[in-house]
Amino acid sequence: MSASVFSPPHLPPPFVNTVPPPTLISQGAEALLYRTHFLQSTHPCALKYRPSKPYRHPTLDARLTKHRILSEARTMVRMRKEGLKVPGVLGVDCEPAHGDNARKGGGGWMMMEWVEGQTAKDLLVAVKETRKSCGREEVLREQVRNLMHRIGTILCKMHEIGVIHGDLTTSNLMIRHGAQQPHGITDGHAEGHGRANNTSGIETEPILREALVNGEVVLIDFGLATSSIQDEDKAVDLYVLERAFGSTHPEAEDEFNEVLKAYGESSRGARVVLKRLEDVRLRGRKKSMIG
Ligand SMILES: Nc1ncnc2c1ncn2[C@@H]1O[C@H](COP(=O)(O)OP(=O)(O)OP(=O)(O)O)[C@@H](O)[C@H]1O
Ligand SMILES: [Mg+2]
Repeated sequence: MSASVFSPPHLPPPFVNTVPPPTLISQGAEALLYRTHFLQSTHPCALKYRPSKPYRHPTLDARLTKHRILSEARTMVRMRKEGLKVPGVLGVDCEPAHGDNARKGGGGWMMMEWVEGQTAKDLLVAVKETRKSCGREEVLREQVRNLMHRIGTILCKMHEIGVIHGDLTTSNLMIRHGAQQPHGITDGHAEGHGRANNTSGIETEPILREALVNGEVVLIDFGLATSSIQDEDKAVDLYVLERAFGSTHPEAEDEFNEVLKAYGESSRGARVVLKRLEDVRLRGRKKSMIG
């Protein structure tokens, strides 16, 4: 059997005429993420495109796509209004496609501000590589704890305003380069779209340090977000991150505790959520024992 090469679905208008064409950055189960520009070629932005699913009934498909796009955009606008760091929403189109568009894929999209930086996942992978060779493991661990602390604080703020992310992983946390971007970090055009690309030891260290200590934590991917002020929902949100973190970055599991520590210190109600997290963990363990 020959392996088939992935070819992404056609982008809807107006993006078919964009020069240069949008660059595909990531393809998830539901969405494709492109880097393109907004109004001026010097103004980068991210285009999240949700193609229609040919196996779904067209009416249901259009309704689900519209719901996901609108709810993601609304959550982001709300978060930003409350002062939380998320990419600014620049535009959405979630009306069902007609005529030619429908034949080319349909779906809907959201355009947002481009975050110049990398995901927490990429950053932690780079840290893991560097740890082996730099011989300053404890220094790096301390810097990771610093980042974890900032993540815990922002998650607590998000929960305080009643937003449950619904898909917390280290791929959905971005670290924006700090103002004092050190020489060597790319601007996202040429080398790997600004992702950590040099993971070889000593010379990477100052770049990593800068991101770990000064990088701004930006939350992304609110397609599954909901509104709730229930401790249970908040605890489950944290549990999802804890599990994802444990399986993706087992070497940094100890540092993850700093997320919970900062979370617990960030608001009055947070300790109750952490207590609840203990129950959620117990239920999770029982479930995996029973199968
Ligand atoms: N605003 C942005 N700026 C820069 N990179 C981004 C931005 N938004 C997303 N990305 C990159 O694209 C990846 C995928 O984006 P996102 O998490 O929103 O989509 P997804 O996981 O495929 O979506 P979904 O789970 O809603 O189907 C991210 O992990 C990140 O690397
Ligand atoms: Mg994602």
